[in-house]
Amino acid sequence: MHAVRLQTEYLTNPMGIDIQNPRLMWNCESGIRQTAWEIICRNSSGVTWDSKKVEGSSMRAVYPRELSSREQITWKVRLWDENDIPGEWSEGTFEMGLLKASDWKAQWISGDYRVRRKNRYPVDCFRKTFKAMTGSARLYITACGLYEAVINGRRVGDFVLAPGHTDYRKRIQYQTYDVTDLLVPGINVMEIELADGWYRGSCGAWGLRNQYGTRTKVIAQLEADGQAILVTDSSWEWSNDGPIRFADNQDGEVVDGRMTPGYGGKAAVTSHPVTPSASNNVPVSEGEHFSPDILTTPGGKTVLDFHQNIAGYLEFTLNANAGQRVFLRFGEVLDENGEFTQKNIQCASKKRVTPLQQVEYICKEGKNYYKTRFAIFGFQYALLETDADWRPEDFTAIAVHSAMEETLDFSCSHELINRFAKNTLWSARNNHADVPTDCPTRERHGWTGDAEIFVGTACYLFNYDAFAGKYVRDMQDSQRRNGNIRQISPVGGIDFYMNTMDGSAGWSDAIVLIPYRIWKMYGDDKILETTYPSMRRYTEYKIRSLGKWYRTSKPTGIERGYRRYISNYGQSYGEWSEPIDVKPFRTSDFISPHPEETTAYIVYLLEHMGQIAEALHLTEDQERYAFLAGEVRKGYQKLSETRKYTLDTDRQARLVRPLYMRLLNEEQTAYAKDRLLQALDHYHWHLGTGFLSTPFILPVLQDMNPGYAYRLLENEECPGWLYMAKAGATTVWEGWEGHDSHNHYSKGAVCEWIISQMCGIQVSGENHFIIAPVPGGSLSYARASYRSVYGEVESGWERNGERTVFTGKIPSNCTACVRLPGGKEYTVGAGTFNFEE
Ligand code: BGC
Repeated sequence: MHAVRLQTEYLTNPMGIDIQNPRLMWNCESGIRQTAWEIICRNSSGVTWDSKKVEGSSMRAVYPRELSSREQITWKVRLWDENDIPGEWSEGTFEMGLLKASDWKAQWISGDYRVRRKNRYPVDCFRKTFKAMTGSARLYITACGLYEAVINGRRVGDFVLAPGHTDYRKRIQYQTYDVTDLLVPGINVMEIELADGWYRGSCGAWGLRNQYGTRTKVIAQLEADGQAILVTDSSWEWSNDGPIRFADNQDGEVVDGRMTPGYGGKAAVTSHPVTPSASNNVPVSEGEHFSPDILTTPGGKTVLDFHQNIAGYLEFTLNANAGQRVFLRFGEVLDENGEFTQKNIQCASKKRVTPLQQVEYICKEGKNYYKTRFAIFGFQYALLETDADWRPEDFTAIAVHSAMEETLDFSCSHELINRFAKNTLWSARNNHADVPTDCPTRERHGWTGDAEIFVGTACYLFNYDAFAGKYVRDMQDSQRRNGNIRQISPVGGIDFYMNTMDGSAGWSDAIVLIPYRIWKMYGDDKILETTYPSMRRYTEYKIRSLGKWYRTSKPTGIERGYRRYISNYGQSYGEWSEPIDVKPFRTSDFISPHPEETTAYIVYLLEHMGQIAEALHLTEDQERYAFLAGEVRKGYQKLSETRKYTLDTDRQARLVRPLYMRLLNEEQTAYAKDRLLQALDHYHWHLGTGFLSTPFILPVLQDMNPGYAYRLLENEECPGWLYMAKAGATTVWEGWEGHDSHNHYSKGAVCEWIISQMCGIQVSGENHFIIAPVPGGSLSYARASYRSVYGEVESGWERNGERTVFTGKIPSNCTACVRLPGGKEYTVGAGTFNFEE
């Protein structure tokens, strides 16, 4: 037996992390059971840790020694199998970044000009010539803005939109690059370009600017064999007369290919109050490439169709004359007349329409190469206007997203379900650019609710732990003094009227629900420990809201004694975005509390907190939260008996939520189940839920009868999941009808049900799975293979007349409880299984 897929802190051979006592992790291959392991770690001076043979089946160990800045560790691990035979060694590495403020010898530098808030500026260009010898070299670099560094004409690393998105006023992440191969002995040149990025460029739905600061700046330190050989300081040359005349995350770029930076000035030295820290996350990088088909619209416009809605940008190579112009606009759809449009993704005020998602490029004489450098766009189509000669093959679209390992393979006999699952993967890729976003076009915000709704699916699609950990830190960074959690993190680009919605049920609860899920899927108890203080402050804030009255609160009709267990406080979204004929939107929805949703989520929150407190051995908290959950649940039950919040309703969400969260007493539960079936009948078995309850409805129906869940899932009409796939979508839409954004992943959260129930793959504690497939509907087979944190697990079923065959594979060193629909249960170990019923 030997170890494969070696990871440090859920990352493969990471460089520049700053986590002390990192977890070393592996999967097992070729053997049934790991009975012992041994790890030997070395740095440049020799062995730093030899665990010796340790009995046990755990596929992770904590590095026990203190690590210093720049320390490079090579670790090797060997395993003993069920016959106590040791296998071959496997090897991994990790490298620490700069751990102390005093490690930074570099200074922050910026362009030498007076910044006016209202003005926009070209990209800054910095340059420095320096001497180097050969040897191992690292570049530590970050920016308030976006940077791209080049050494001797070659780009450093592949991080797009570096340094990523945080609240730069509180935390700023640096990257560590191995630049050994870029250096030459003797004279070298390093250039850095610096753009506005999220820091001072457009942010959020209304493209607000200067959200984190007004003066963009960069800091870089190049080290050879651990010694700084080049640091940013006042000796760097600077100018802003390079080709990129304008760069904005949302509005795009203006580039003059004829220009080259003159470096006529000097960099200005500045400062930043926060010491950079490592991101401990995957980079954002280029992924899939697409070639276009060319359309001529009825209005005579030329449009490039890449056939896949992506987040990314475009590159082209053209032979042109100096001064010829290429203009591109990026959009997701064609309008009802077949014309290019951006209307579905833009917000328009009197002052501005945003995002523009456009590129204007002025050619130089001869060969022109262009690729967007400081923006990504959400698009399938590009409107092209140019007076230069071009061919379709001159253009390529490139998807850009966080480079998480993809971990799922799924297929079934229903083509539209396959299509929908693929679309969900695409929307998930498109909405992970260092931060999980709502969409890659209009807002590009780290909406907590979207991420919370989707986290279960994200954990099947990706190796998600490191990414989620970074986002949880973003949420912690923006936590309010009173404990409330923002609806959007990193905070920035948020309009004043939205601040009042912080704490919205189902959105801000992400601070508890995301780490909880990460803990369950990845066995990550550290995320609970590090987030617990923030979770607790948020929970206490929510508890304080019980029984309080808000200025726009409406009477609930609930008996006096129970009011203290109802949250009728603050503004919140409620269920949000139910189909219009189920519940038309009213502005009062925006400015009033939603006692039903909020109270339900407080119970849900308290129950999760109870489990988390138990896992952390915090008995007092555990008991308090369990007790309060019981009391608030009683309040919710009383609320359900009032006229306003009665269970006698056709609003599916009102029935699905309490059933999913088990909020009702026995009698109410039975009633709600019947009433839900009636509500579905009244709505022709279309989905009538909104933002929050859509992921809950299939588990609730399955619990009643799996046939109901399949009936709803397979409905191809609108509103319904498959309607989008049927309409030719390549991503998941924001609204069921497809009028607005075409790239919101949250409705794809139903894929969690597809994998965990239809295919039946559930992670259930360390090295253990529950395999409980639920065949149904018109499907003749379904299968999935999931590269879980404990190894690759497979489960599938195929119908054969009256019989169904269940097959799968449990990874080495793992066990599973296979539960068949007929009620039989089997305990299986590593290897394949095959049952029939
Ligand atoms: C965003 C959503 C978000 C919602 C809050 C929308 O504008 O795009 O995905 O969660 O607002 O209601």
